[in-house]
Amino acid sequence: MAFNNSRIGNSKLAEQGLNSWQWANSRMGVISRILNEFGKTKPLNQTKLGLCLHITKETSVLVMAALRLGAKVTICSANPLSVQDDIVAFLFSKGVSVFARRDETVKQYKEGIKEVLNRRPEVLVDDGSAMHIVAHSSGSEGIVGGTEETTSGIRRLKILEKRGKLKYPVIGVNDALSKHLFDNKYGTGQSTMDGIIRITNLLIAGKNIVVCGYGSVGKGIAIRARGFGAIVTVTETNAHRALEAHMDGFIVKRLIDAVSEGDIFITCTGQIHVIRKEHIIKMKSGSILANAGHFDIEIDTKYLKSNCDDRYLVRRYLECFRIRGKRVYLLSSGRVVNLVGSEGNAPEVMAMSFANQLLSIIYICRNHRKMKRAVHDVPMEIDQYVALTSLKSLGIKIDKLTDIQLKYSNSY
Ligand code: ADE
Repeated sequence: MAFNNSRIGNSKLAEQGLNSWQWANSRMGVISRILNEFGKTKPLNQTKLGLCLHITKETSVLVMAALRLGAKVTICSANPLSVQDDIVAFLFSKGVSVFARRDETVKQYKEGIKEVLNRRPEVLVDDGSAMHIVAHSSGSEGIVGGTEETTSGIRRLKILEKRGKLKYPVIGVNDALSKHLFDNKYGTGQSTMDGIIRITNLLIAGKNIVVCGYGSVGKGIAIRARGFGAIVTVTETNAHRALEAHMDGFIVKRLIDAVSEGDIFITCTGQIHVIRKEHIIKMKSGSILANAGHFDIEIDTKYLKSNCDDRYLVRRYLECFRIRGKRVYLLSSGRVVNLVGSEGNAPEVMAMSFANQLLSIIYICRNHRKMKRAVHDVPMEIDQYVALTSLKSLGIKIDKLTDIQLKYSNSY
C-alpha cells in the first residue's frame, strides 16, 4: 500500500479538519445554495468521482457537497507540497478514500494518482491534468468525462484534442468567467503575497518586485504587491498584455533588463524556464525567487541545483543557493508558493470555482453521451448562475434591463 499514513486516522487532526471545513463552508454560500437546490434529487447518485486537487479546506467543501449530492469520492493531491493533513484526516473520517499527505515524495504523489484511477472513477476532476494524462496512458475504461480547473491543464488537454487523442469530454472550468476573473486574479493575487510573506516574513514596502506574466494571476499579484507598497515591474511576451500592464501603471521591461534591480521575482506565465541562467547570473545577492504558476518549471531550478557551490535550508520552504559568490533564495522549491507557503486561495473565490466544478460534474453525468470528445466551455447558463448566485449570497442586488432596454439591445 502506497499510503501507510498514520496521520490519516488521527481523530484530533480530523476534529481540526472539521473546524477548518466549517470555517470555509460558512464563507462559500454559493455551494450551500446549490445544495439547497439540488440536495433532494441527488443528481450524483452513486457516481464515482476521482479527484486530483489541492487538498485544502476549500476542497473539503467541494467534496462534502459532492457526497451530499450522492457521489462516491476518491481523492489524491494535485501537488506533493500543498496537502493540508487536517483535511486529509477529516475527509477520511467521512468515508472518503484519500491518497495524500503533506510533504509526500513525488513518487508517493504519482502513486496517489494511480490509486485513485485504480478505483475506476467515472468522472475525473483534475487540477493541472496530471490525472487526465495518466488516465490516457494507462487505460480510461469507464471514464465518461472530466473537468479541469487550471489554465495549464486546459492547454495540455487541448493538445490531446488537436491530435485526436482525447478519450472523453472534458469541461475546462478555468475558462468560465466566474472562475478565472476572480479565483485567478483576486484569489491567487492575495494568496501568493501571503505565501511569500509567511515564508520570508520580510517587509514588502519599498521592495522591487518583478512579476513575470500579466495574465489574470499576474494582474492579481501586481495589484496586491503594489498595495503592500512595492515598486512593481511586469515582464511579458504578449504585446497586448504588456500594454495593459503599462496603462495599469506598472513598469514594463524585458526580464533581462529588470534582473539587476529586482528583490523578489514571481513567475506566473505557464511557460518553462522563464527565470534561467542568463537572468540568475545578473541578479543581485539576496534575490528571492518564487513561482505561482501551476508547474515547477518556470524557474530553472536544475540550473541552480547543479551550479551552486552550496545550498541549505534557511527555514521551512526557504532555501539558499550560494552561486557565483551570491546568495539566491528559492521559495517552496519553485512550486506553487500560494499553496505551499500559504493555504491557497480564499474560500470566497474558491466557492465560485467549485460551484462551476460541481455544476459541470452534474452536467457531464446528464449529458456525456451527447458530448464530443473535446474540451468544452462551462455552459453559459452555469457560468451565469454561479455569478448571480454568488451575488445573492453576498447580499448584493443588481439592476435588470427594462423591456425597452432589452428591445434596444436587439435592435440596430
Ligand atoms: N487552488 C488555489 N487555491 C486553492 C484552494 N484553496 N483549494 C483548492 N485548490 C486551490
